[in-house]
Amino acid sequence: MGDAGRVPRDPRRAVAGSLYTLLRTVDVAVEAQGLEREFKGAIKAVAGIDLAVDAGEVYGFLGPNGAGKTTTVRMLVTLLRPTGGRARVAGFDVARQPAQVRRRIGVALQEAALDLLMTGRELIELQATLHGIPKRAVRERGAELIERVGLSDAQDRRVGTYSGGMRRRLDLAMALIHEPAVLFLDEPTTGLDPASRLTLWEEVRRLKHEGTTVFLTTQYLEEADQLADRVGIIDSGKLVVEGTPSALKAQVGSPHLDVTLTSSDGAAAARQALGAFGQLRPPDAGCHVSVAVREGSSAIAPVVRALDEAGLEIASLELIEPTLDDVFLAKTGHHLEGEDAAEQGERDPYGEEAPLVQASADGHAPR
Ligand SMILES: Nc1ncnc2c1ncn2[C@@H]1O[C@H](COP(=O)(O)OP(=O)(O)O)[C@@H](O)[C@H]1O
Ligand SMILES: [Mg+2]
Repeated sequence: MGDAGRVPRDPRRAVAGSLYTLLRTVDVAVEAQGLEREFKGAIKAVAGIDLAVDAGEVYGFLGPNGAGKTTTVRMLVTLLRPTGGRARVAGFDVARQPAQVRRRIGVALQEAALDLLMTGRELIELQATLHGIPKRAVRERGAELIERVGLSDAQDRRVGTYSGGMRRRLDLAMALIHEPAVLFLDEPTTGLDPASRLTLWEEVRRLKHEGTTVFLTTQYLEEADQLADRVGIIDSGKLVVEGTPSALKAQVGSPHLDVTLTSSDGAAAARQALGAFGQLRPPDAGCHVSVAVREGSSAIAPVVRALDEAGLEIASLELIEPTLDDVFLAKTGHHLEGEDAAEQGERDPYGEEAPLVQASADGHAPR
């Protein structure tokens, strides 16, 4: 083996060096520094955002309506020029190397612009062709993706007859046609029914499993909690806090069990029994006992058993866990709007979620 120290000009070392630089930059899939976008009228929709998303990570960009999520995404996917700061995606600068960025990303925007008169299959095959996929491979690749998002049965129907959830899934399939390294999903489930939401979540998990980096915006706490490796909370154009969901929640409190006994007589015995599970918490009075439990819900059964063995009767028992909303509240002073809307089934931007199969009987897609 030669002594590498004697051959400083070995070209292989130069190659290794540039490869190292390349790998290092691609390690970080999305990077923003002081990213800003000001609109006419001096509205700073995005007011200086710093973030870094590792390759293979699912990053949840969580914030209420109007927080600046879409504006940030549009800059990252090269559809909108930043008015300040800079950003790199898949190792390329969004302002100076937009073509390189575009080749490596998939984008499903909040409002999918699908031609309602075309069928799902026609649209996906068109997308494949636009991305330069060879003609003989177009059909196969299209069919594979259609199958993957569960639209095989509907592929020959006009998109105008699709429900909101089906359109989102088709839009996602189209965003994946060229196997992008980084996928941007702007509020992929806003307004969707729970079943469609779950289907999309499964797909995001599958993409992560395959190594795709996913930058996902959402106004739903649960979505960020369920899907994201790390969450960045955005409010009024600024990132207010960032971290893993569990670390963020741990910042605002620990899970605890609140027990109410049927009588205050047993309080002392109950405190003794529960002390074994974790730190006892105030209030220290009456028939209420509260204990911090690191394991959350898995502590419920043993606690009930312990109280039962001590001959104590439980009137009620509640597990209180900090949520991302507590984090949001702690950092911004207000609740995350849109959560109520999520629970009540927010209006779908595409219209009702009911099947629209019969809607195009006159041959025209509903608008
Ligand atoms: N083209 C535009 N011109 C002027 N203001 C805009 C434009 N696009 C967005 N905004 C404003 O920027 C802010 C952030 O919007 P947006 O990025 O769409 O938020 P989000 O996606 O989080 O709901 C909002 O106040 C919105 O009204
Ligand atoms: Mg938006």
